[in-house]
Amino acid sequence: MAASPSSIVEIDQVSFGYDAARPVLHGINLKIERGSVVGIMGQSGCGKTTLLRIIAGWLKASAGSARVLGENLNELDEARIFALRRKMGMLFQFGALFTDMSALDNVAFQMREHTDLTEDLVRDLAMLKLEAVGLRGAAQLMPSALSGGMARRVALARAIALDPQLMLYDEPFTGLDPIALGVIARLIRRLNDSLGQTSIVVSHDVAECFDIVDYVYFVSAGRIVAHGTPQALRRSGHPFVHQFVQGEPDGPIPFHYPAPDYGADLALEGAHG
Ligand SMILES: Nc1ncnc2c1ncn2[C@@H]1O[C@H](COP(=O)(O)OP(=O)(O)O)[C@@H](O)[C@H]1O
Ligand SMILES: [Mg+2]
Repeated sequence: MAASPSSIVEIDQVSFGYDAARPVLHGINLKIERGSVVGIMGQSGCGKTTLLRIIAGWLKASAGSARVLGENLNELDEARIFALRRKMGMLFQFGALFTDMSALDNVAFQMREHTDLTEDLVRDLAMLKLEAVGLRGAAQLMPSALSGGMARRVALARAIALDPQLMLYDEPFTGLDPIALGVIARLIRRLNDSLGQTSIVVSHDVAECFDIVDYVYFVSAGRIVAHGTPQALRRSGHPFVHQFVQGEPDGPIPFHYPAPDYGADLALEGAHG
């Protein structure tokens, strides 16, 4: 696949397994255009987080190529991957705030670590990031004084502290009540558009995701099984997508976890007992 300048991420035939005996991703292809918000959806354990870790350069594909922000990840050494990662903002599921620092200091942390900006400028910039998530007024609060939704927004302000071009969100809605969830979803879209970012949102929350993304990839057992715009996917009648969008218990995604034949299991128990 030739690199096209409008693509921020190009994953070409990527496979990966944590150990060789059990592959987790199989021949994944995806392409993310500059400025878009793209959803990666699928049920728990299908490989979404693994795919994000490959895009972030934490894991190396065992086959295929991954191009991110114009660089071929397979060709980069650790130092250059580290430099590339500075251009990415990440909001991960368990990315808790530092509990011993105020909201402002949480946001300022990366700026203090990674830039030569003066303390005055760092504080002004951190305030701007908090303003962008509607929490300038909460700057001096400690994390223990924040609601779950507010804490997630501070984490979001922290993730955009270094003005990333590419945002990676792993289950950003987990554990939030419906109102906080809607706030975070709209913020993801708004920040993407106003700051000129490109965003990848990993989620199993179809309703919320479909409202804010331009394009969706559905993953099942480490393979892309469907992709398209939310509108096209809603219309498609693709059995996997239909089951997922409607939240139906039965369909291509099995309700039962794979198990040996029931009769064989009973016979086995009999043999033991
Ligand atoms: N660090 C790891 N070591 C070994 N196996 C892992 C590791 N992380 C995830 N897996 C396995 O890889 C598969 C995909 O996991 P993951 O990418 O976390 O899925 P998802 O994010 O879609 O829930 C699962 O079977 C999981 O058990
Ligand atoms: Mg995950």
